[in-house]
Amino acid sequence: MSKTLIAYGTRFGATAKSSEVIAKVLKEKFNHEVDVINLSEHEENLNLSIYNNIIVGSSIAKFSWTKQAKEFLKNDFTSKKLFVFISSAGITYPALEKGNMKKYEKWKRRFLDRVVKKNANVKTSSTAVFGGWIERNGQMKLDN
Ligand SMILES: Cc1cc2nc3c(=O)[nH]c(=O)nc-3n(C[C@H](O)[C@H](O)[C@H](O)COP(=O)(O)O)c2cc1C
Repeated sequence: MSKTLIAYGTRFGATAKSSEVIAKVLKEKFNHEVDVINLSEHEENLNLSIYNNIIVGSSIAKFSWTKQAKEFLKNDFTSKKLFVFISSAGITYPALEKGNMKKYEKWKRRFLDRVVKKNANVKTSSTAVFGGWIERNGQMKLDN
């Protein structure tokens, strides 16, 4: 059976929620075994040898990935399928609000494709940008 790890870095929770939704679909519709981990709560080394598929998710804030997700990308993913997504309110905004796909594609290359190319040792099977959210009145802390 195919076993999948979803490893994510979040600041405000959107990437965690996206990860849970992906896990639910993979389990319920595709009968995959899925583990989901929040990289900032996982200090010890993970045994990646048990997974065929790796999904890495990162929050984008202040133009940056979380340091844990970026670091995790540097693992050896040889002979695994790698999928990567980011949660970013800013990157999806031009496409959703203004229909500006060129700007969206440019920012996707800058904040997703280039980071993966620079840090991961395999090509991705698929990448995605999810919208994320911003709580206007909530208290937000940005420490990674
Ligand atoms: C302080 C702050 C900075 C942000 N900076 C960016 C940014 O530089 N680019 C972007 O696309 N979105 C930015 N966002 C929006 C986030 O991408 C969005 O809130 C996303 O849901 C964050 O993912 P998370 O909830 O998993 O941390 C920012 C949000 C906050 C609150």
